[in-house]
Formats: sequence, C-alpha cells, structure tokens
Amino acid sequence: MCGIVGYVGPKKASPLILSGLKRLEYRGYDSAGICIIDAEDLTIHKKAGRVVDLEQSVDLSHLTGTVGVGHTRWATHGLPNDVNAHPHTNNDGSIALVHNGIIENYLTIKKKLINAGYTVASETDSEVLAVFIGMLYDSLGNLEQAVQTALQEVDGTFGIVVASTHEPNQLIAARRGSPLILGVGQDEYVVASDAAAIIAHTRQVVYLQENEMAVLTRDGFTTKTISNEETHSVIEEISFELEEIEKGGFEHFMLKEIYEQPITFHDGFRGRLLVDEGNVRLGGLAKVQEKLRTAQRIIITACGTSWHAALVGEYLIEQLARVPVEVEYASEFRYRNPIIYPDDIVIAISQSGETADTLAAIREAKLKGATVLGMVNVVGSTIARETDAGVYLHAGPEIGVASTKAFTSQLCILTQFALYLGRMRDLTAEAGRELAQGMAQIPDQIRSILEHAESIAHIARQYATATNFLYLGRGYQFPAALEGALKLKEISYIHAEGYPAAEMKHGPIALIDEHMPVVFIATKDETYDKVLSNIEEVKARRGTVIAIANEGDHQIDRLADHVIRIPTTLPMLAPILASIPLQLLAYYIAVERGCNVDMPRNLAKSVTVE
Ligand code: AGP
Ligand code: GLU
Repeated sequence: MCGIVGYVGPKKASPLILSGLKRLEYRGYDSAGICIIDAEDLTIHKKAGRVVDLEQSVDLSHLTGTVGVGHTRWATHGLPNDVNAHPHTNNDGSIALVHNGIIENYLTIKKKLINAGYTVASETDSEVLAVFIGMLYDSLGNLEQAVQTALQEVDGTFGIVVASTHEPNQLIAARRGSPLILGVGQDEYVVASDAAAIIAHTRQVVYLQENEMAVLTRDGFTTKTISNEETHSVIEEISFELEEIEKGGFEHFMLKEIYEQPITFHDGFRGRLLVDEGNVRLGGLAKVQEKLRTAQRIIITACGTSWHAALVGEYLIEQLARVPVEVEYASEFRYRNPIIYPDDIVIAISQSGETADTLAAIREAKLKGATVLGMVNVVGSTIARETDAGVYLHAGPEIGVASTKAFTSQLCILTQFALYLGRMRDLTAEAGRELAQGMAQIPDQIRSILEHAESIAHIARQYATATNFLYLGRGYQFPAALEGALKLKEISYIHAEGYPAAEMKHGPIALIDEHMPVVFIATKDETYDKVLSNIEEVKARRGTVIAIANEGDHQIDRLADHVIRIPTTLPMLAPILASIPLQLLAYYIAVERGCNVDMPRNLAKSVTVE
C-alpha cells in the first residue's frame, strides 16, 4: 500500500509534500519520510509513526527546495522503524527513492549488490532497488537509463518516484501494479498514489499506465514504457471536490462516511433507476448488453467487504435473473486455475479499484476469454480501466479504512444489476417496480436509522469490554452478519465471527455463555421464525442478545436483551438497512475502547500487495 507524493515546480516542496502525505495516510501509517533536493544536496528526514510524528521530531521549515518526494509506509518487508522508513537512497546518497509495492526478487538483487561491494542497511526490498539503481548509475552515468534498466530486471510490483542530485530539477516516476497519478499544474507537477494528494493543486491528471515511466521537470513531462516503447498520455479531470476528502466537522472519517449514506446510496441509483418502468438504465453496460442477456453463468470476485457485497449479489442475481452465480475470493480465484468459459461474465467488485488480488483475478479471467465487468468506486482506477465495461459506485472518496458507504453503494449497484438482468430475462415489470420503489425509499430509511444513533452508542458502551462477539443472520442477512463482524474486528480489535444463524448449532453454539454477546439480524422475512428459535437457543445458554429487528416487531422484545429497530423493506434490500446500525455499533465500541477508528492497526485502505 503506502502513499507516495512527489513535487517538482516553483514552490517550496516540503509543506506541499507533507500535506499530500497526510491525505494519503489511509494507505499506510507505519512511518513517514521526506526527501528534498536542497542546494544540490538530498536532505532526508524519516521516522516511524505518522506524518505528525515526523513533523514534531524535526524542524522541516528549513527545507526550501522545490523538488522532492515523500512517503507514508505500510510495511511489507521489515519492521516499521526509522531505518526501514522511506525514502531510501543509493550508497553515496545521491539518489533517493520512495516505493509502493513489493520487489519479489530483492534477495537475488541484494546478493548481486553485495558481491559488487555495495551495502544495504535496512530490511526493506525498496532499499535494494535504490542501491541497484545507484549501481547502474555508476556504470551508465544516466539516471533515466539507470532507473529503466533496474525496473526491467525487477519482479513484483512498484509505484516509485526517484529524486537525485544528478538531475536536481527532475523526478522520475514509474509504475507496475501500484497506482501513480500525475497532477499537471502550471509549470509544476505533483505525482502521487492517489488523486487525494493532488486535488488541492490541480484537477488535471494523467493516470500512469501499467509499465509506464515518466520524467518530470518544471518545463514538461515525457512518458514511455519501461521497455522503451512510446506512450501517449491523456489528461483527465479529477471527478470529486476537495471538501469530499475532509472530515467536515465529524470526529472521524468513518462516522462522516456512515452519515453520508442517505446521499451516497441515492447517488448510486440517481439517473439509473426507472421506478415507473420497474427497470434500470446502466449506460456503462450498454456495450455488453447482448452478452449479459445470454450469459449462462456469472462469477463475482472481490476481497473483504467487497466480497461480502458479492455474496448479497449472488442471492439477488439468482433470485431476480435466475442466472447461476459463483462468488470467489480474488486471492483464491487467481491461483487455483479456475474453470472459466468464454461466455462467462466475471464481475470484480472493489472500492479502491486497486486491490492487487482482485486485479490479478480479472486478468486471469480476461486471459481465459470471459467478459469482465467492474463495480468500482474510484474513478480511473486500474480495475475500472482494465475491465470491459462497468458501473461506478458514485460513493465519493472513502477515506476511513473500514469500508462503510462503499458497501451500501455496492449493494445499491448489485441490486440494480440484478434487476437489469432480471428484466432482460423473466422478471415482470410489476416485480421490478416493487423493487425499484423499495430502493427509492432507502435513503430516507437510512436517515431515520441515523437519527437513533445515540441509542446504538448506548448499547455499544455496555459491550465495549467484551472479548468476543458472534453475528448471526440468514438469507440476505447472512452477508450482513459477516460484514458486521468484520467491521467490529477491524476497528475495535475484538474477536468477532459472522455465521449463518442456523449454522450456529453446528459448532459456534459451544462458545456461548454469559460473556458472549450475540448480534442477531432478525428482520421479517421467510426465515424470521427460525431466527427466533435460534435466539431462544442462545438465551437458553445465557448468551446476551442484541437484535436488529423491524419497527413494530414486538415479538422479539421478549427474547432480546437489546433491540435496535430499523424500518421495514423488502428482504432483498434489508441487508442495506441492517448494515447501518452494525457500522454504528462497531464505531461506538471502537471509540469507547479508545481505538484509532480511521487508521486501525496493521491495516491499510488499499491493498496493492499480495
Ligand atoms: C473493509 O473494511 C476492509 N478494510 C477491506 O476488507 C476491503 O474491503 C478489501 O481490502 C477490499 O478492498 P477494495 O474494495 O478496495 O477492493
Ligand atoms: N515493500 C515496501 C516496504 O516494506 C513498500 C511497502 C508497500 O508498498 O506497502 O517498505
């Protein structure tokens, strides 16, 4: 993961790089570092911890140079300490590099360097690349060629930016597998892992392509592939506003994003959902419409929260369109030589559009001839660009590491996709209308749940010291249970398991005693009575029950210790509403435990490594 920022232009680079790094901290926060070319010298400061720790540890105001690079790390190779922090340099300190990704053959290269008399001080793969570029520079005497030759030899993934005293007015950027975006300003360039670090300076961007490298000076930039072929850059416009990546008065990004859901959900169907016709218009899929009409099978691949959304998608598509669906963890799919037929539709779901496993899965599917679709949030991201067609989530930037609004937007898109597919096949206009009307009410229903957030905070405070939680749901609510458990694990570090409610009796019931809070999603659908029986089984073993139930359902009051009410909707839409209190429950428990909600330990927002 890691966040990279580089600047070349007329302004003092250090404040600009530091503010960019703060916007990228969601990508990693193990250490922060900066390198500025100051009076023909490289000045480097780096430190374990967050960008503010770096700022507090040293006076950076003396850095007056106008060319530099910065890095915020999510460690893959080596502990998160000062030595392993980026930027890394070659042996004579004339070349500095920041890196996002993994150099898989770093040990082989390291051996070669050591045999040639070079030294490597840190445990990182990244320093090996910096020293390697230095060794090549020593023989070639040309920085651009040295970077290019080194990159031709490395295996693995990288987004890198190189600064050097040999070319003090220049930055070299290159990518393979990790994103890099070039912000094009007036006589200045900002290169970063994400547009969030660029938007304060310019809205004009170039998305570097796979295996592309760029050389930037104040006067312009050139691009080519790492293997030296010509490339043509297209300047595009950033699609979000600066306010969207600020906290806007909320204590945490996660809370802000939870509260944005009435709007983000609406944005997901605005201009798409045709309520009167009981249908959906998905412009992004127009060119694959015929393939969708005849597809015999759909495979959905994703990771984490997006994988949970995919499970809901499976139920939706099978019910509404009667097309068999398989849901695959991208990390498994890519390595198990999956059976893929040319008329299969493979859908990748991803908030970031950069998840390495998901990207590799769609490449595998494409290789085998399938039509590959994307349901992605980040506009212009790699998955969005590498899929044959797709639908954007339109949830706006999600900064909190724990995904919230992207999840409900994924469900919004999947519901519409299932409806679209259903209407092409056997689904009646009447059934389509009923679903579309239900969807149109969701934003207001989310709003009404958020109005009762304080009662959820009250429950959260009572269970913040629990060490385990069980989350149970059936049918459409089973994936919601998985997602509720993941939210709690991620941000509060409480062990939590999600299960189909009826599976409880096949094992997890052994865990239940008076210390085990069990969250039941018990909304009204055809399995409601069965879920009530499961609640009885938990109560019979002295477990504590927190139930998510429909407004007006008083049958449950007798059994549950706490009831969180949500409005009634169609069973297929119910996981959307159930997710809101589950997000709030996890959030308030984490806050009560004093956890860093937006930057939970060991995690990063965008997992661009395997
Ligand atoms: C969500 O809260 C997680 N942090 C994580 O599981 C995430 O959903 C997963 O890494 C997939 O990311 P993507 O949607 O950006 O591909
Ligand atoms: N492999 C590098 C390191 O551990 C970069 C990590 C990353 O991009 O996540 O420092």
